[in-house]
Amino acid sequence: MVHYTELGLVNSRELFKKAIEGKYAIPAFNFNNMEQLQAIISACVETKSPVILQVSSGARKYANQTLLRYMAQGAVEYAKELGYNIPIVLHLDHGDSFELCKSCIESGFSSVMIDGSHLPYEENIALTKQVVEYAHQFDVTVEGELGVLAGIEDEVVAEHHTYTDPDQVVDFVTRTNVDSLAISIGTSHGATKFKPEQCTRDENGILIPPPLRFDILEEVEKRIPGFPIVLHGASSVPHEYVEKINKYGGALKDAIGVPEDQLRKAATSAVCKINIDSDGRLAMTAAVREVFATKPAEFDPRKYLGPARDELKKLYMHKTVNVLGSAGKA
Ligand code: G3H
Ligand code: 13P
Ligand code: ZN
Repeated sequence: MVHYTELGLVNSRELFKKAIEGKYAIPAFNFNNMEQLQAIISACVETKSPVILQVSSGARKYANQTLLRYMAQGAVEYAKELGYNIPIVLHLDHGDSFELCKSCIESGFSSVMIDGSHLPYEENIALTKQVVEYAHQFDVTVEGELGVLAGIEDEVVAEHHTYTDPDQVVDFVTRTNVDSLAISIGTSHGATKFKPEQCTRDENGILIPPPLRFDILEEVEKRIPGFPIVLHGASSVPHEYVEKINKYGGALKDAIGVPEDQLRKAATSAVCKINIDSDGRLAMTAAVREVFATKPAEFDPRKYLGPARDELKKLYMHKTVNVLGSAGKA
């Protein structure tokens, strides 16, 4: 067992408290490889933003759990080397079992999500409570979820949103003793969050999706004032990345994300953690495709992963400064 404090990591409790008071949100960026981690850390150090490094169970399978843990430990040292000791949380994204959460806690994670949102309500409570009781012995913070996002989440696919029911939140947080709550208000995972027929078009022909269900968020806030809320599926799917990917041979159809002004608005509420993965995937893919298409003789991975890393860093800096408002809060 290695405790996260030995790795220089922090849990999310204090960060969320400050974020709610200061009306901003902490970025939760997923990583699977070195370039993504370098981009996240250098962007957050440069903008002096706290950060949550998210590891999904898919990432653990892809990159190896031990390597990822040491990479997170390395990230703490890397941040110091870059000149600023930002708070870094290592978080399990969408944990689906007690055993997975326990294994992450034992290997140095400072925060875990137990996602029982697909389960019947009482089963979600029982599983979340079991994880919280274990995690709190080590002062590891736990995120639970109520309501189901449409789209793909690891291996689970949901056709439709099941919005969070505000009538359940008091009972859920008191009975589970969870530290933060992910809710469903109209976002979904991936690059196709809305169907074109749900959208209108602006003067440039760009699809504008329907607004998020801020009415549900407000109801939740009324029931549990000051309680940390988490927004999943919060990528904006920047139009320029989609265009670049398609220009250089990609085939992304109807890619539509959450407009940044809506995320900005959410960040000023009790939403204190905003999850972003797909935008990073798009930034990397656009940069790599451009190199492959314009410099076909290149075969050194540094020549395409380097530009991908630069683009990612730019994206993450933009998020902390202009969207989440976490820049300068470390
Ligand atoms: O919620 C999903 C995250 O974007 C992680 O995705 O399971 O493909 O690593 P992944
Ligand atoms: P996106 O697919 O919108 O980036 O959402 C990521 C996420 O919620 C990870 O848990
Ligand atoms: Zn998610």
